[in-house]
Amino acid sequence: MKFEINREECIKCGLCIKDCVTGAIEQDNQGFPQMTSKDSCINCQHCFAICPKGAIKFDENEAQNAESTNYDDILSLIKSRRSVRQYKHENVSEEKLSKLKAMLKYIPTGCNSHSLHFSVVEDLAAMDEIRDKVNSKILNSFVYKIFAPIFNKFSKTKDALKNGEDIIFRNAPHMIVVSSPVTAPCATEDPIIALSYFELYAQHLGLGTCWCGFGQISVKLFPEICDILQIPKGYVPVGVMLFGEPAIKYQRIIQPKPYVISSVKGDFKTHKRNIFEVIIRFITNFLR
Ligand SMILES: Cc1cc2nc3c(=O)[nH]c(=O)nc-3n(C[C@H](O)[C@H](O)[C@H](O)COP(=O)(O)O)c2cc1C
Repeated sequence: MKFEINREECIKCGLCIKDCVTGAIEQDNQGFPQMTSKDSCINCQHCFAICPKGAIKFDENEAQNAESTNYDDILSLIKSRRSVRQYKHENVSEEKLSKLKAMLKYIPTGCNSHSLHFSVVEDLAAMDEIRDKVNSKILNSFVYKIFAPIFNKFSKTKDALKNGEDIIFRNAPHMIVVSSPVTAPCATEDPIIALSYFELYAQHLGLGTCWCGFGQISVKLFPEICDILQIPKGYVPVGVMLFGEPAIKYQRIIQPKPYVISSVKGDFKTHKRNIFEVIIRFITNFLR
């Protein structure tokens, strides 16, 4: 990793030092910032992003100015996003696929580990093959009594599969699978965040998306599918999302049930807790 200061440009404002999350930058004896602890730098590049003069060079990156954002557009995107379960049986254009892939590197990860792996099923033929393999593997496993409790719970899914419906992959032409190294600091959270970003950007491009919990279980269950998806050793597939050109259009915004929001301000209303309440609180907090 290369961190360089252009001393002609630097105005010694100290913004890079103040914004460094790990305190890896300090002032040298002339007041210029210097990286004193390369080991603690997590490569978040906040110093590079915040510098008003563009005086910091991080690796070989050329400085690119931040783009202004229309926040109303983002809110309408969030409100209009729907899970799409009906897709056109065709490939998404190369242009949209490359835009989606180019976006992925901007996704945040815990401790800036940037260790996610993305498997993008880029063509319909590959997706059809995966779909056939998974659906037939699941149909075959119906004979094993050991799985009966699971299948009984999802009896409608079982019947649909038997009738040849693609209840798992919704006939989608593509999917993206995000895997994380078991050792990553936020191995569970990172892939979910990644797919949330992916979903919003894909829908902004006019594509349909759908989280695929059943797909995730299927990928985990069948090592052959992990191999097809080129999931590296030591990585766990955590999130699966279907995507493609939608065959339907939602005309209006739904009216979701509001979540409970506690407005926390001054004047805390706390009460004396007994030991059982404390224990239950701890158990609840650390259950997941
Ligand atoms: C973690 C997660 C897993 C999901 N798994 C599936 C799935 O396997 N199949 C499916 O059709 N929808 C799946 N969904 C979509 C939800 O059912 C959907 O978000 C919900 O019905 C609300 O609809 P909306 O996304 O259009 O607001 C999943 C959603 C999430 C967040």
